[in-house]
Amino acid sequence: MTATTSRPLSVTEAIESRRSIRKYLPEPMNQDDLREILRLASLAPSAWNAQTWRFAVIQNPELQAELQAAAYGQGQVTNAPAVIVVYSDMEDTLNTVEETAHPGMGEEGRSGQRKTFEGAFGAQDVAQRGQWGLSQANIAFGFLMVAARSLGYDTVPMLGFQPDKVRGLLGLPEHVQFAGMLPIGKRAEDGFPHHRHSVERITTFY
Ligand SMILES: Cc1cc2nc3c(=O)[nH]c(=O)nc-3n(C[C@H](O)[C@H](O)[C@H](O)COP(=O)(O)O)c2cc1C
Repeated sequence: MTATTSRPLSVTEAIESRRSIRKYLPEPMNQDDLREILRLASLAPSAWNAQTWRFAVIQNPELQAELQAAAYGQGQVTNAPAVIVVYSDMEDTLNTVEETAHPGMGEEGRSGQRKTFEGAFGAQDVAQRGQWGLSQANIAFGFLMVAARSLGYDTVPMLGFQPDKVRGLLGLPEHVQFAGMLPIGKRAEDGFPHHRHSVERITTFY
């Protein structure tokens, strides 16, 4: 743990205090905290435990400047000490699907996992199954923001960028889909108070 918090914030505290931050203190990320945040995000659930999410961590001012240009010049991309790009790689998921079978289920689990995925996605094209992969990666994206806040860091989720340019800069294949770009660091501004629909407005109780 670093300066801002002496203990991890509770989930409630992390959710309440998270807000989009677009100005950061000029301090490098603590690398242990960064790894722990990524580990916590990787504990997100996914259908059949597919874990389609992949993380690209950028802590390189030159590359951040190029990413900023691909993100219509948004300042937080270079202002933050690090940027985590969260994407889904459904083709990698399918090619290595046995890895996601629980080891307790043995060889039967591994071959069962392959059969399940072939049955579900074999007839779909890359774009279709890529959409499904993205729906799973979005869960980890949410976990990532809450985990970061819990350890005293701030973030801003971003989809305002040109995906093809970001794929090119990071050397990613065409089929990957982006959950978002996440500048991360310690806040140097307060951000805006939450403005949300009421529970009544968005909920139907049956
Ligand atoms: C998927 C997604 C994409 C977003 N893209 C951008 C973006 O490109 N640039 C930006 O400044 N904020 C972006 N935002 C931040 C939203 O504007 C912000 O989350 C929303 O206004 C609610 O404010 P809060 O995060 O402070 O609670 C994005 C948020 C999400 C969830």
